[in-house]
Amino acid sequence: MTIPAVPYKKFSEPTVATVGTKRWIVLYIMVSVILLTTLACWNNLSNGALLEIFEDDGEAPPPHTEYAKMARYLVHTAEWVSMGSLSTVAAIQGFPMVNIISVADSARGEKSTGVLYFYLTMLDYTAQDLHKDNRLTVMLTLDQNKYCTNNGIDPMEPTCARIMISGRADKIENGTEEYKFGQNAMFSRHPAAKKWVETDGHNFFLCKLNITQIAVLDFYGGPHYVTVEDYMAADLDKKSVAVNNNVNGERQIPPRFSTTTQETTTLV
Ligand SMILES: *[C@@H]1O[C@H](CO)[C@@H](O)[C@H](O)[C@H]1NC(C)=O
Ligand SMILES: *[C@@H]1O[C@H](CO)[C@@H](O)[C@H](O)[C@H]1NC(C)=O
Repeated sequence: MTIPAVPYKKFSEPTVATVGTKRWIVLYIMVSVILLTTLACWNNLSNGALLEIFEDDGEAPPPHTEYAKMARYLVHTAEWVSMGSLSTVAAIQGFPMVNIISVADSARGEKSTGVLYFYLTMLDYTAQDLHKDNRLTVMLTLDQNKYCTNNGIDPMEPTCARIMISGRADKIENGTEEYKFGQNAMFSRHPAAKKWVETDGHNFFLCKLNITQIAVLDFYGGPHYVTVEDYMAADLDKKSVAVNNNVNGERQIPPRFSTTTQETTTLV
């Protein structure tokens, strides 16, 4: 009796799918198509609720009832602020003057600290003003990332949230832990800042905003004043509480004065 020769399959020789395998592939594709269609229908019927499960809550602005959280949200997401100081420039001595100042409350992607760090140089009028009188106010708006514009809300409307933080610029001494932290936060979000501090003669120095008052204007009814304690305690990672019928605690876009019309929103 002769043993039949069994040829060894060569390494990487393409395998031809047998009829059975092909049947499984067809079945797999059919099941996938049915599953995807079902998920798409479900998502459409539930007004996109399915997709929202996968959205990052940390990125969405908090509802207008959470003032401290909104303040922290704006501070944490901001890469820059409008900073007002009392002018020392001869022609406008004592006038309010503004500038754009790059800020960071943490390194990019790191947890919010709520403390605004920024670099100043005496070559710039803002630092000169603050050198004489370190009182300042910064303004941050939800439209800094075009949230209001993209939702049909004019930036001046109260529903386009903004905060005005007043306080004092405190210089941070080089060599301290806080200096290291603030510098790292600034370098992470503003790679250009590394060049600023390295440029001879410009003498950029690191400061932080020591807060006196936080005014939050969000929704109708005038500004709300958030205490520094409430502001520091606000946790951006904590899920927002439900507002009215809005079980998800999401920010609603009210229709008054804006070009969007949403019937579901009730005005307070
Ligand atoms: C801070 O101190 C370190 C170590 O002495 C020095 O290398 C660095 O240039 C200083 N930074 C500034 C902005 O002066
Ligand atoms: C803010 O300034 C006050 C008064 O100078 C000081 O006592 C306080 O420690 C400062 N706060 C922070 C967070 O640095």
